[in-house]
Amino acid sequence: MIKFDVSHGLLKEEVGSYQDQVSDIHAMIHEKTGAGNDFLGWVDWAETYDKEEFERMLAAADRLKDKAEVIVVCGIGGSYLGARAAAEMIQGLYPDNGHELVFVGNTFSSTYINQVMNHIKDKSVVLNVISKSGTTTETALAFRILRDFMEKKYGKEEARTRIIATTDKARGTLKSLADKEGYETFVIPDDIGGRYSVITPVGLLPLALAGVDIRAIMQGYQDATRELSSDILEENPAYRYAVARRIMQNQGYNVELFVSYEMQMRSLSEWWKQLLGESEGKDGKGILPDSVIYSTDLHSMGQFVQEGRKVLFETVLDVETPNLDSEVPNDPENNDNMNYLTGKSLHWVNKQAFLGTLEAHEVTGGVPNLLITIPDMKEHTFGYMCYFFFIATAMTCYMLDINPFNQPGVEVYKKNMFKLLGKPE
Ligand code: PA5
Repeated sequence: MIKFDVSHGLLKEEVGSYQDQVSDIHAMIHEKTGAGNDFLGWVDWAETYDKEEFERMLAAADRLKDKAEVIVVCGIGGSYLGARAAAEMIQGLYPDNGHELVFVGNTFSSTYINQVMNHIKDKSVVLNVISKSGTTTETALAFRILRDFMEKKYGKEEARTRIIATTDKARGTLKSLADKEGYETFVIPDDIGGRYSVITPVGLLPLALAGVDIRAIMQGYQDATRELSSDILEENPAYRYAVARRIMQNQGYNVELFVSYEMQMRSLSEWWKQLLGESEGKDGKGILPDSVIYSTDLHSMGQFVQEGRKVLFETVLDVETPNLDSEVPNDPENNDNMNYLTGKSLHWVNKQAFLGTLEAHEVTGGVPNLLITIPDMKEHTFGYMCYFFFIATAMTCYMLDINPFNQPGVEVYKKNMFKLLGKPE
C-alpha cells in the first residue's frame, strides 16, 4: 500500500543497522511498557473501537444530512487538524456535495470568527464541538458564540438536535454542558491523545457528516495495523521511515520538509507537522517539521531548498493516481508554444515536475530526499496512512528517548495568557 524509498536519501548509515533497537522499541510499543504508555490506545484501535458508537456516527450523519448545508467544526490542534486533512485530501478543495466544512475554535482572530459568523448566518448549520479537556479556551470561546447563534437562529429545541459534542466520556466542562443541554455526545477515548485521534469520533464524525466514507477509512486503518505489524525493517516501511529520520539527524539535518505535489494535501501537511512536531519537539531534541506544496512553492521556497543553507532534507509524499485528471487540449495555432504538451495528462506533467525536482534537489543541490508513495487520495489510503505515521512517530521518538504522547510545553503560553486575561485560579 505505502512504499518507502531511501535510495535518494544520501544516507551514510545502513537503515538495517538499527534492527536491534527497532525490535526492542517495537516490543515496548506493543507491550505498552514505554513512556506515555497510557496513550497507546491507537495501537489496537482497529479491533477495540466501539462498534455501536461507530454505527451511531453513521446514523447521526444520515439524520442530519439534509440539515447540514454547513458543518461547523469547533476544535483546535488534534481536535480539528485530522478531520480537515482527511476531508481536503479525499474531497478536494472545492467539493460540490452540498456539505461545506467550516472550522472554528482554532483561533482568537476576531476577523476570522466574525467572517465565519457572517458566512453561515443564512445557511442551514450543524455544529460539532470537539474538545477532550472541554476547557480549551479558543474552542470554548467560539462555542459560546456559536451556541448563542444556533439558539437564536433555531430556538433551543431545534438547536439541541443540531449540536453534537465530542468529548471525554465522563469528565469536563463540555461533557457537563452537553448533558445539561441534551446534546448527543461522542467519546474521545482516554488512551488516545489529540494528534492520534482522527480515527476516533474526533475525526470520523465530522467526516461522516461531510459525506466521507468512514467505513473505508477504518478498513484502511485495520489493514495498516495488520500489514505494519512486523518489527523487521525490511518488512515495515513505517519503521524504515522512522530510522531514516534519525540517520538524517545524525548527518546534521535538523529540518524535515514534507513535500506534496497536490494542493489538497496542504492540510494533511499541517496534521503531519503537528504529529511529528508535538510528539518529538521536547527536551531540546527533535527535527523541525515544515512543509511545502510543489510545484507551487518551488517558485518561492525552491530557491532556498536548491541553494540555501544545508539544514534540511525532504520527505516527498508521492501520489500514484490522482482523484481527477484531464488532457492538455490542442491549439492549432500554438500561439502559446505549448503544443509539445498536447494530449498529455495533467498528472503526467505534474509527475515530470516531481522527477525533475528530485534530480535537481538531490543530485545538483545535495539535498537528501526520502520518498513515500501512496496509491491515491481516497478514504482507505487515508486510514492506512494514519497508522503508518502514528507507528513511525512512536518509533522515531522512542529512538530519541522521547515520550511521543505528551506536550508539556504548550502549557506555558496558556499560563501567561490566563494571567493577562484575568482568568480566576
Ligand atoms: O494533540 C493535542 O493533544 C492537542 O493538539 C489538543 O488536541 C488540543 O490542544 C485540543 O485539546 P482539547 O481537545 O482538549 O480541546
